[in-house]
Amino acid sequence: MLILGISCYYHDSAVALVDDSRILFAIHEERLSRRKHDARFPVLAIGSALHASGLRINDIDRIVFYEDPKLKLSRLWDQVIDNWPRSRRIFDADLPRFVQHKLPIASQLRVHMGFNHRVEFSEHHRSHAASAFFTSPFERAVVVTLDGVGEYETASVHLGEGNRLTKLRSIHFPHSLGLFYSVFTQYLGFEVNEGEYKVMGLAPYGRPRYRDKLLGPILKLHEDGAFTLNRRFFDFCRHDRHYDPSLIAHLGVMPRRPDEPVREEHHDLAASVQEALEIAIAGILPPLMREYGTSDFCFAGGVALNCTANARMIRDLGINSHIHPAAGDAGGALGAALQWTMRSREHEAARRYPLDAYLGVDYPEPVIKATLSLNKIPFRECADIAEELATALAAGKVVAILHGRDEWGPRSLGARSILADPRRAEMKDHLNAKIKFREEFRPFAPVVKKEAYGEWFETLGMAESPFMLYTHKALRPDQTAAVTHVDGTSRVQTVSAEQNPYLYRVLDAFERRTGVPVLINTSFNLRGEPIVSSPSDALKTFFASGIDALALAQISPQCAASRARHGDGSLGERQCAQIGIRVVDLYTAFDTDREPDFREHFSDALHPRPRSYPVLAQIVYDNIKGLLA
Ligand SMILES: [Fe+2]
Repeated sequence: MLILGISCYYHDSAVALVDDSRILFAIHEERLSRRKHDARFPVLAIGSALHASGLRINDIDRIVFYEDPKLKLSRLWDQVIDNWPRSRRIFDADLPRFVQHKLPIASQLRVHMGFNHRVEFSEHHRSHAASAFFTSPFERAVVVTLDGVGEYETASVHLGEGNRLTKLRSIHFPHSLGLFYSVFTQYLGFEVNEGEYKVMGLAPYGRPRYRDKLLGPILKLHEDGAFTLNRRFFDFCRHDRHYDPSLIAHLGVMPRRPDEPVREEHHDLAASVQEALEIAIAGILPPLMREYGTSDFCFAGGVALNCTANARMIRDLGINSHIHPAAGDAGGALGAALQWTMRSREHEAARRYPLDAYLGVDYPEPVIKATLSLNKIPFRECADIAEELATALAAGKVVAILHGRDEWGPRSLGARSILADPRRAEMKDHLNAKIKFREEFRPFAPVVKKEAYGEWFETLGMAESPFMLYTHKALRPDQTAAVTHVDGTSRVQTVSAEQNPYLYRVLDAFERRTGVPVLINTSFNLRGEPIVSSPSDALKTFFASGIDALALAQISPQCAASRARHGDGSLGERQCAQIGIRVVDLYTAFDTDREPDFREHFSDALHPRPRSYPVLAQIVYDNIKGLLA
């Protein structure tokens, strides 16, 4: 059976394709559409999944949507009725949009994609739970999911046994740890669903001196691990802010405007919010450990991306933890597919889906060469590019790499990454100022050879940490200054020769030169943009930033010469002018025009693109087909 899971229309659209034993393909729509947190119908991701697997849409046996739209609609109605007239905006804007877009997802798949088989529906938290449990090493575990809100649920506990997931309990909207954290993300002047990492990064700079104003009056924790929010301080009917003005008087701290400097009270509020979250999660787990006699836990839902809390649960409670790397709603696509296929196997021997970090699009060498040739960028093929990259890195250069398939989840895990020397403390400021253009307080993460992991970082009792989901104490902070946060921890990714041979060779070559088997590994994107997917995304990002060198698989583009010729940010303009299209359309067309059947079903109504898109794609292909031959 081939099952396609889809998540869309809320946060991050994604698709995942599975068969009876393997995850064949999974990708976030944003990587292909180039729109950060793209929540639209994942038409490009579906097209890529089909193309990568050599399938047509009706080769898929089932499509499973990650949540139940009817149940969600019911919750929206409840929200309107319970909060009328404050809920007028939901009634006027959200409900019609929901009814028009999300409710008819099955008919959209038939009309726009030509899908003739059955469309099934999962439940939001069951999808999260399945994404974690069925990819875990555990035969039996307690599965905890925590997010903003699904249909009604904001948190759930399942017992995973064999191929079965049994729901034990759940907490409903508006009582939500995810929303609690998001509201303070907004209060601190950061964007919701994007700035939560910034609050986590800011927290170690402060003292949790507002903790008692949060725990109790705002977030009430109960003995059995449940929690409630004091509704008085929140307003989830508004779009622009989700807190009530009474919260300002209660805290005695003004909300920070996005353009305002980050001051001590903001550090302290971030530290307090982080502390409150950690105490809340630490209250959930012990009753479950006692009741179900296990220390094996799986986690998913957006809150499971909080690396600091994840590490604290292991340190303080001694649990064994497995977290799905795409813990947010994108991962629900994979969970939806897995829960559906495992339901029919509940009485069979336990089976698990091995989780690879690299599940997206692989761009073959001809596409890389065509992209470079189209843009008149000379290149060399390197026998051993790892040695060249390591030499550049040891000399203090910043290097970007693109090879193999895109990573699954929100982190760059060494398939589309920017690498740099972690020994140089000043590298952090250099990366922030010249390349990433992001806040100076945000830490960078290290990647380390798996066998050296325990010598360089606290392991938390784990043999590996391949998905960058925990903070680990740095054991040699003087040699990893650029990736050691102010609290002495690092968000470590371990890499083995089997997991990512390309990156492993670079680490190995860097270690031979410097004695340090660690590199800075940060996402290959500019601030506010999705991580690059294609070679042309990589070139565009390279020319818009201060990255010193670029490697596209084994190919070394001679970008320095091109930069001198084209100037930064002007890549391809001349070529585009020659064929009469805009640069942005060139990228759009070249990157997405791969599947003729998929293009026939393309709908501007669902996924706004230039109306002339297929024509543009044809123009671009006509120009490069000689190179592809
Ligand atoms: Fe969720």
